[in-house]
Amino acid sequence: MTIRFAIFASGSGSNAEALYQATVEGQLRGEIVGVFSDKEDAYVLERAKKWGVPAAQLSPKAYASKADYEQAVLDQLRIWQVDFLVLAGYMRLIGPILLSAFPNKIVNIHPSLLPAFPGKDAIGQALAYGVQITGVTVHLVDAGMDTGPILAQRAVEVQGTREQTETFIHAAEHELYKEALDQLWNEERIK
Ligand code: GAR
Repeated sequence: MTIRFAIFASGSGSNAEALYQATVEGQLRGEIVGVFSDKEDAYVLERAKKWGVPAAQLSPKAYASKADYEQAVLDQLRIWQVDFLVLAGYMRLIGPILLSAFPNKIVNIHPSLLPAFPGKDAIGQALAYGVQITGVTVHLVDAGMDTGPILAQRAVEVQGTREQTETFIHAAEHELYKEALDQLWNEERIK
C-alpha cells in the first residue's frame, strides 16, 4: 500500500521539493496527493504546479474561527483521500479538528534539536544562545508548538556564518525527512 500524503507549507518549500524528488527516485514509498498552503504567495504552490500535483490555498483570515478554517482544510484533504499530513515549514498550530481527523498521522520537521528552540526562527534562536551543536528534529504532531513524540534527530555543528549553518541545517533536513518518513511508513505497512 502506498501512503497518500499531503504536504503543508507556508513558504519556499525546499523540504517539499526534497520529498517530491525522493518519491520520484523511489527513496520514499509514498505519493504526494496534494500541497496545501495557508499563504497565497507561498512559493511551494509554484513548485506543486511544476510537479503537476494538485494544490490548494486557504487563508485563515477568511474564516470566522480556526475550527471553520480547519473544517475547510479537512474537506479538501478528504477529496484528495489523504492518509498522512507532512508539515514542511507550515507555520501554524494544528488544531483539534485536524488532530482528531489524523490521529498520530501528522508529522513535522523543525530546525533544532527539540525540545530546544521551538517556534519561529529556531536557527536564529540557537545562534543567539551560542550553542555549538544544533540540528534537526522530525516528530509526530500534537497540540503544542513543535512538541510531540520524536521520530528522528540529526546533529549539525555550528560553523562559519549564519548562512553556512543554515545551509548545513537545510541539507540535514532534506536527508532526514525522507528517511524518517520512509521508516515510519514501513512500520505502518507492517502493522
Ligand atoms: C524549515 O527549516 C522547517 O524546519 C521550518 O521551516 C523551514 C521551511 O523551509 N519549520 C519550522 O520552523 C516549524 N516550526 P522550506 O520552506 O524551505 O522547506
